Amino acid sequence: MTPVALVTGGARGLGACIARHLASEGYRVAVADRDLAQAKATAQAIGPQAAGIALDVSSEDAMEEALDTVVRQFGLPWLLVNNAAIMKAEKVLDIGIDTFDAIMAVNLRGTFLGSQRFARRLRAANKGGRIVNIGSLAGENGGTATGAHYAASKGGVHTLTKVFARDLAPHGITVNAIAPGPLDLPSVAETIGEENARRAMASLPTGEPGRPETVARMVVELARPDAGAITGSIIDINSGLYMR
Ligand SMILES: NC(=O)c1ccc[n+]([C@@H]2O[C@H](COP(=O)([O-])OP(=O)(O)OC[C@H]3O[C@@H](n4cnc5c(N)ncnc54)[C@H](O)[C@@H]3O)[C@@H](O)[C@H]2O)c1
Repeated sequence: MTPVALVTGGARGLGACIARHLASEGYRVAVADRDLAQAKATAQAIGPQAAGIALDVSSEDAMEEALDTVVRQFGLPWLLVNNAAIMKAEKVLDIGIDTFDAIMAVNLRGTFLGSQRFARRLRAANKGGRIVNIGSLAGENGGTATGAHYAASKGGVHTLTKVFARDLAPHGITVNAIAPGPLDLPSVAETIGEENARRAMASLPTGEPGRPETVARMVVELARPDAGAITGSIIDINSGLYMR
């Protein structure tokens, strides 16, 4: 049977790369994003095995509706990739509470909601499944000094990963996170500015940023049916910036 995957924030950037890669590996892919037009365009570029759907990951109702839509259209997913996130570079003293709440709502609450609502359906079906969360190097080492809200949200994602993994292990559901350092994507310069991005990339120990394709391939590996022993792991892809 063709496996089904749901990728949140799949309209652009890393999520789009993961969706493309999953499709090329034989998955039917739901490209879920709050930017429906872009999600549809991305899905169309992938082909008939992909569909763009509307989703705001911070909303309970939207999450349930998106899961209903995917189940109707493709069947129950085997894999959920919690990739949607927002980022902002601000000094701690400048962070407004609205921005703090908005980042937590998408990055942390969105990952919790997606994992919980998806896992409830997997449990009911009793066939196992896979959850891969996209965390961040910032969730481990605090990142730069300009993203306390973002770093804290990603630290939370890593912790959720471990607790969900422990709880769901007896049910054949694995939960892992990938913690990328700077990736070769436009969002880096959009968040911290061209000059800072250029400097950050130039100072990487390996001399090169992570490739979105490398992250996408890791998602596929973690999602393999025979990878049931990998759970609760935070996989680093960070150009040598941080070693546990
Ligand atoms: N770019 C990097 O260098 C980098 C490094 C480490 C981790 N990450 C992580 O990788 C993931 C993808 O990052 P990216 O660089 O592709 O970002 P991006 O901003 O290019 O893409 C994020 C996508 O998420 C969508 N989105 C935002 N809020 C949403 C919501 N409430 N509901 C549904 N969709 C929503 C956006 O519309 C967009 O399509 C994020 O989790 C990010 O934290 C990125």
